[in-house]
Amino acid sequence: MSGDGYVVEAEGLEKRYGDKRALDGFDLAVREGTVHGLLGPNGAGKTTAVRILSTLVRLDGGRATVAGLDVARQPRQVRSRIGLTGQYAAIDEILTGRQNLEMFGRLFHLGRKRAKLRAAQLLRQFDLEAAADKGAGGYSGGMRRRLDLAASMILAPAVLFLDEPTTGLDPRSRGEVWEAVRQLVADGTTVLLTTQYLEEADRLASRITVIDQGRAIADDTLDGLKNRVGGDRVEVVVREPAHIPYALQAVARVAHGGQPEADMGELRVHAPVVDRVGSLSEVARYLQHYGIPVEDIGLRRPSLDDVFLRLTGRRTEEEPADQEPEFEAPAAEGAAA
Ligand SMILES: Nc1ncnc2c1ncn2[C@@H]1O[C@H](COP(=O)(O)OP(=O)(O)OP(=O)(O)O)[C@@H](O)[C@H]1O
Ligand SMILES: [Mg+2]
Repeated sequence: MSGDGYVVEAEGLEKRYGDKRALDGFDLAVREGTVHGLLGPNGAGKTTAVRILSTLVRLDGGRATVAGLDVARQPRQVRSRIGLTGQYAAIDEILTGRQNLEMFGRLFHLGRKRAKLRAAQLLRQFDLEAAADKGAGGYSGGMRRRLDLAASMILAPAVLFLDEPTTGLDPRSRGEVWEAVRQLVADGTTVLLTTQYLEEADRLASRITVIDQGRAIADDTLDGLKNRVGGDRVEVVVREPAHIPYALQAVARVAHGGQPEADMGELRVHAPVVDRVGSLSEVARYLQHYGIPVEDIGLRRPSLDDVFLRLTGRRTEEEPADQEPEFEAPAAEGAAA
């Protein structure tokens, strides 16, 4: 390790696929013993970054170290220090959970006895004992992902790369996977987690890098990011345009750190708030007092889309211009326009 507490360090990573710059000067620094979120929309370059850092693909430029080892020059040593859970699960559905883990143990040259022992430990750790001897094909999404996590932990790696570990899972299964990840970190593993969900980064990560078109466009704590975006918002939808001014007044009473904004097309008024529940009831009370019918009222946490819009001026689903002009990545201190 490099002594400064960073276990993953990347500088100016470049990766091209034909004309496409999958990574275009990507920087990253992950502190030891933390979960670091890599947040970005489809095609941003998350998987490419993970594949370079885990030595599965070669970089075209820049440099990166993992656990103090250079990914380009010492790939084998790097591989012995990391675990990787890919975007698509790698387990064999015909085998049981236990057989899957034992097979991975054998692949990692543990020997039959140690492979069995390690499988049993991991089944316990990931709360899969009850289903251990059932075919993995019958596992729920959350169980599968936990088995996948367990498989990547066979050698108790220093750094674990998790590529979208909960995409496609129902809320309950996501919760199970999050709990398993927290446990790993409590036991000393450093995790780099890619995700398209701000909420997931929120639940797990102490620091977040936002990636867009192959570059880091923000690197901040969650609170820092939320401050730029404005944090939680209260939102009211009224029935008629004539009611918008009332909604604006109501929301202005509780708005914190920003003016209320109105979306005339959707008859929606919203503003950042701090006291979530207090603000909500205050707005409801005010509108009721003036007899203004409310179509919908609620609290909304910022999404990746909100963060993205603030940082880039684009929505996540909007395609970037094909040959985009040189794009100045906003500096860490003041990205919000
Ligand atoms: N093997 C490849 N060949 C050609 N283009 C690729 C390849 N891998 C990635 N790309 C392109 O590089 C860009 C970044 O892809 P990457 O898979 O890293 O994105 P991602 O952030 O992981 O997206 P997702 O959220 O969809 O998983 C995309 O435009 C993708 O089409
Ligand atoms: Mg991906």
